[in-house]
Amino acid sequence: MSSSVEPGRVLLVGAGPGPVDLMTVRAMRAVKEAGALLYDALCSEEAIALAPPGCIRIQTGKRAGKPSMTQGEINRIMLRLARRGLRVVRLKGGDPSIFGRVGEEAAFLNAYGVATEVVPGVTAACAAAAQFGFPLTHRGQARRVVFTTARVQDGAMAHDWRSGADPEATLAVYMGAEAAPDLARALVAAGRTISTPVAVIERAGAADARLTTTSLAALTAGPITTHGGPVLIVVGEVAAAAQAQASNASDGFRERAS
Ligand SMILES: C[S@@+](CC[C@H](N)C(=O)[O-])C[C@H]1O[C@@H](n2cnc3c(N)ncnc32)[C@H](O)[C@@H]1O
Repeated sequence: MSSSVEPGRVLLVGAGPGPVDLMTVRAMRAVKEAGALLYDALCSEEAIALAPPGCIRIQTGKRAGKPSMTQGEINRIMLRLARRGLRVVRLKGGDPSIFGRVGEEAAFLNAYGVATEVVPGVTAACAAAAQFGFPLTHRGQARRVVFTTARVQDGAMAHDWRSGADPEATLAVYMGAEAAPDLARALVAAGRTISTPVAVIERAGAADARLTTTSLAALTAGPITTHGGPVLIVVGEVAAAAQAQASNASDGFRERAS
């Protein structure tokens, strides 16, 4: 590293679920001022387009047939760019602290003396709840929300679902579409009532988001059919309130703004 160049900061930024009007003002500003932008597969074209001309743009996730980078490669690129004095933005779908590897990336960069800052984003569960009209907590019905995944690091099913048996817990299950039948069986085996309502939301936040309401019983029967978008599974009594009539708040916002 050249001694005359102050290392840049790395901002670990949540892009929200897709539409730019679900990004925070701080996240938008970070992208607009980026000297280098590393973005994952869930970031929308709209969000990436906010980067200024001349910004180095690097796609890190699987897109358009290109394979995703390893975490080690991403870390090394961020470090290299920061050492050039650039303002580096690592843009992630949703919120970076929820299944976003923010802890690993910050620890790596901090160990090399590069300062990091996290800019939060709207996570998929919050976007899904808002769009399809159900709460994640509800007095007398859901006293806690568990952000969880049906996968563990090696791709195998997570084993201990005892906390998921709590009838007052809403489970927001990320990366669970393929493992949905196993997940449902595991929850029932752990003691969750088989009739517990389930909402499956694909592409939450987007204008073409899809909702399927079902139950743990039905989920055990077979894999979820998807249309290729990211899928969130919400398990709990609150899911019964999910309504197929999606509210499209962003359209209303645009109409008023224009
Ligand atoms: C690596 S995790 C990242 C989660 C992200 N940090 C967040 O806070 O939403 C990716 C998983 O999140 C869920 N997900 C992300 N965006 C979604 C969306 N718009 N609709 C539904 N699920 C989504 C899916 O389960 C997807 O497989």
